[in-house]
Amino acid sequence: MSLNALGQFPSLRLRRLRQTAALRRLVCETRLDVGQLVLPLFVRPGRRLRQPVAAMPGVFQVSPDELVRDAAAAHAAGVPAVLLFGIPEKKDAVASGAYARNGIVQQAVRLLKKEVPDLLVITDVCLCEYMSHGHCGVVRGNGRAARILNDPTLKLLARTAVSHAEAGADIVAPSDMMDGRVAAIRAALDAAGFTHTPIMSYAAKFASAFYGPFREAAESAPKFGDRRSYQMDPPNANEALREVALDIQEGADIVMVKPALAYLDILHRVKTTFGYPTAAYAVSGEFSMIKAAAARGWLDERAVTLECLLAMRRAGADILITYAATDVARWLREK
Ligand code: PBG
Repeated sequence: MSLNALGQFPSLRLRRLRQTAALRRLVCETRLDVGQLVLPLFVRPGRRLRQPVAAMPGVFQVSPDELVRDAAAAHAAGVPAVLLFGIPEKKDAVASGAYARNGIVQQAVRLLKKEVPDLLVITDVCLCEYMSHGHCGVVRGNGRAARILNDPTLKLLARTAVSHAEAGADIVAPSDMMDGRVAAIRAALDAAGFTHTPIMSYAAKFASAFYGPFREAAESAPKFGDRRSYQMDPPNANEALREVALDIQEGADIVMVKPALAYLDILHRVKTTFGYPTAAYAVSGEFSMIKAAAARGWLDERAVTLECLLAMRRAGADILITYAATDVARWLREK
């Protein structure tokens, strides 16, 4: 072999397999598959209602009839599952709308299972959208003295999960971050005959500023204080593993890391430590950042969205929860 102008041997080595699209595809280590996508949707009472969420372009609060349209479109594009959030007519201090037999999520689930039967319906199990104060649990006291009570909250969460299962939910997904809620929900589901209903727990859910746009979408911003006494502190990774270990011990079937992009290290450690089905939630702020930059022509929306989701897969995610799911499904088909 002759030396090149720099006095080195020709150095083509790793680049050999990058020369053509076909070669790159052959050695591709991580793939995005439409079958891994979950689309979050926001449902509220009414008819023909489609209210834009200002901070999330392309995302709407919809009435059940419109929800069926969005869910059917996602399903037709190949998205296998939706994740439902409800905005009730009225909020109170015991979140009664969360577990009402005819609550908004319960109605929506029954309708979706009738109209789009093959679509998996996952329900977010939390109280914040239904509580007058916007916290994820029962509150005692107020102002600075307010406390979020753990065990009284578990009873309400378990009731909520059972009512979702009764309505036909395929998977329930507790997002409240109370201690012991997976065990409480598993026991209540089993006692009610829903031994077959899986739990996808928001196991490592951090107190993140990336949830900002969601709180507008779900009308669930806390009226006082913040969620740092129950959601995880962003600096902590070992604690995230303890959270996930406990949830698995309590019966979680799928564990979630949330947010996704800023927590890829957590995703990776959760997947390598437990080997469980692992979901990444690309949250509202992650979606809005891309939308905002794309609207200014600063980023290529499609390329950046796919690159971020690929990063989550590479870090260890099996399931990708994203507001862009329907677009992503179409993009993957075009590729
Ligand atoms: C409810 C809940 C939140 C999100 C999912 N479930 C908000 C929060 O905890 O404040 C955030 C989702 C997103 O930002 O996309 N507890």
